Amino acid sequence: MLLEALILKDVRCVVQILPINDESIAQAVEALSEGGLVGLPTETVYGLAADATDGEAVAGIFAVKNRPTFNPLISHVTGRSMARKHGRFTPLAEQLAEAFWPGPMTLVLPKHPDSDIHSLASAGLNTVALRAPAHAAARQVLHGLGRPIAAPSANPSGKLSPTRAAHVVHGLGDAVSIVLDGGACAIGLESTVIEIRGERVVLLREGATTREDIIDICGRALEEASGGIKSPGQLLAHYAPDIPLRLNAEKPGNNEVMIGFGWVDGDFNLSSKGSLNEAAAALFDTLAQANTSGASAIAVAPIPEKGLGRAINDRLRRAAHNSTDKPSAS
Ligand code: TXA
Ligand code: MG
Repeated sequence: MLLEALILKDVRCVVQILPINDESIAQAVEALSEGGLVGLPTETVYGLAADATDGEAVAGIFAVKNRPTFNPLISHVTGRSMARKHGRFTPLAEQLAEAFWPGPMTLVLPKHPDSDIHSLASAGLNTVALRAPAHAAARQVLHGLGRPIAAPSANPSGKLSPTRAAHVVHGLGDAVSIVLDGGACAIGLESTVIEIRGERVVLLREGATTREDIIDICGRALEEASGGIKSPGQLLAHYAPDIPLRLNAEKPGNNEVMIGFGWVDGDFNLSSKGSLNEAAAALFDTLAQANTSGASAIAVAPIPEKGLGRAINDRLRRAAHNSTDKPSAS
């Protein structure tokens, strides 16, 4: 049922802000399963939700938020049983999830080899960020979809996080067709992100679960990760391929494996139809395959420096420099 249709002044489009009931939950689940984006309330902030296993849908999140880089996203789950299919749980991770889920605590764990969370959602890393939200609507949508939901805050990159449905519409306009209206978020601040590295607990982002509460449960000091994954060195170390990478190539040189885009074809093509969303979804997997193809270097076709192309080029430039000291643009 359409409660409120907002005709936005300059975008001239209709965004459905729906009250939460069985019908709107079903509509949100359907939109997600078709690769759409949905504004979803959680107890922390409103999320811009996509099926985490659908690469093009996840690429849509980065496009809509206008994120200049591919930062890894949190994948939301119903609880530990779903989470265990995607992350490798240790007894320590179990203990933390049992204490804080559902709730505003995100666990970064080694990615389970059978996980189908798309590589773009975890930005090509071999870890995943998992959280079971406490908000009833978010939980119902998760149960309905039956798969993890990638959802960063539903605001344009660099702007304030949304804590009401109207904030989502104001920030993102018609980029989402549906926003479930759960009223004001109870917490209004993002979840705390901690990474489990063996027996160590590393605080990657301060948030709604206090460090004191975490220390109480895990019985050990938290290690600080200055800036967490946002730390450029960390990102670059993870991202660098083992072989050199050449940008803006029109054709491959000797012993180069060619990654094409659009009409510039190659051994791989990020998107033969020239779609930046499709290219973003294919990027990490294609680089990994090129890296192990046996070639001595990688050549990549030019990618237009617009929309998601900026984030793709950011990633490619880092890979090309293969260094750990270039600043992040995020
Ligand atoms: O409260 C929240 O956490 C909200 C609501 C919507 O649930 N979501 C949210 O998601 O803030 P997102 O995707 O914007 O948060 C991502 C945070 C970033 O700090 C990111 O660097 C970190 O989680 N992160 C995600 N995956 C990671 C990984 N594999 N390793 C390290 N950090 C990771
Ligand atoms: Mg955010």
